[in-house]
Amino acid sequence: MPTYAVIGATRGVGLEIVRQLAANPDNTVFATARNVEKSLHLAKVIQEAPAKNVVALQADVVDHRSLKVAAEKIAQATGGALDVLIHNAAKMDYANGNLYRSLTEYESMDALDAEFIEAFKVNTLGAIHSVDAFLPLLRKGSTKKIVIISTDGGERDVVWKTGTTILAAYCVTKSAENMVMTKYAAELVDEGFIVAAISPGVVDVSGTAASPRMSAISW
Ligand SMILES: NC(=O)c1ccc[n+]([C@@H]2O[C@H](COP(=O)([O-])OP(=O)(O)OC[C@H]3O[C@@H](n4cnc5c(N)ncnc54)[C@H](OP(=O)(O)O)[C@@H]3O)[C@@H](O)[C@H]2O)c1
Repeated sequence: MPTYAVIGATRGVGLEIVRQLAANPDNTVFATARNVEKSLHLAKVIQEAPAKNVVALQADVVDHRSLKVAAEKIAQATGGALDVLIHNAAKMDYANGNLYRSLTEYESMDALDAEFIEAFKVNTLGAIHSVDAFLPLLRKGSTKKIVIISTDGGERDVVWKTGTTILAAYCVTKSAENMVMTKYAAELVDEGFIVAAISPGVVDVSGTAASPRMSAISW
């Protein structure tokens, strides 16, 4: 009975990971949402899961306490263990127009500061909060795997070779998230952990998007 926690599972890539994991009746999938009641796409996946093996839990990755509460609930359900943590949450907020700005395109430094700080809280600290909350459970798990869903946009080589100036706050904070993964990998390797950041490539998530999205980026 492998157990998975998918953090940030209401839409897009995270939701599809939940759906595919739930298709295997041997799996138990814990899916977190900032607002479970309003997460209608997740509710549909839970309802349609053939094995009824998806459990929704409330958590905001900016709020490390909420992740601890979610981890406690999972521990109660599993006897204290978790096999795989998949950290997917990211700040992809298209509504205010800042997501696509380059470093020189903000209306003010105050606006840039605000966007970078919020992106850092979600994309970088959020990954640390997730791993910290679930590490005691993962240590008791059978596979000891931590997966961070990252992006080619957080890779310096890719950004340089493609000349991608836009998505500045997102790329900078996802790059820092890659270093978070590397730090955990170095720290936990002797305990038998595999910690990996993987990029899904460009994925059309418009079908479950919270707000309209500009055309896809090619790295
Ligand atoms: N789509 C792509 O082309 C692409 C390409 C490369 C990498 N990625 C990576 O794939 C992952 C998912 O991207 P996506 O395109 O699927 O994005 P998305 O559709 O915007 O979904 C983002 C997810 O993160 C959650 N989230 C946002 N802020 C959160 C917070 N503070 N606490 C907890 N959850 C939070 C959202 O939940 P709410 O419903 O509560 O907002 C949602 O479930 C990201 O890590 C992204 O960097 C995506």
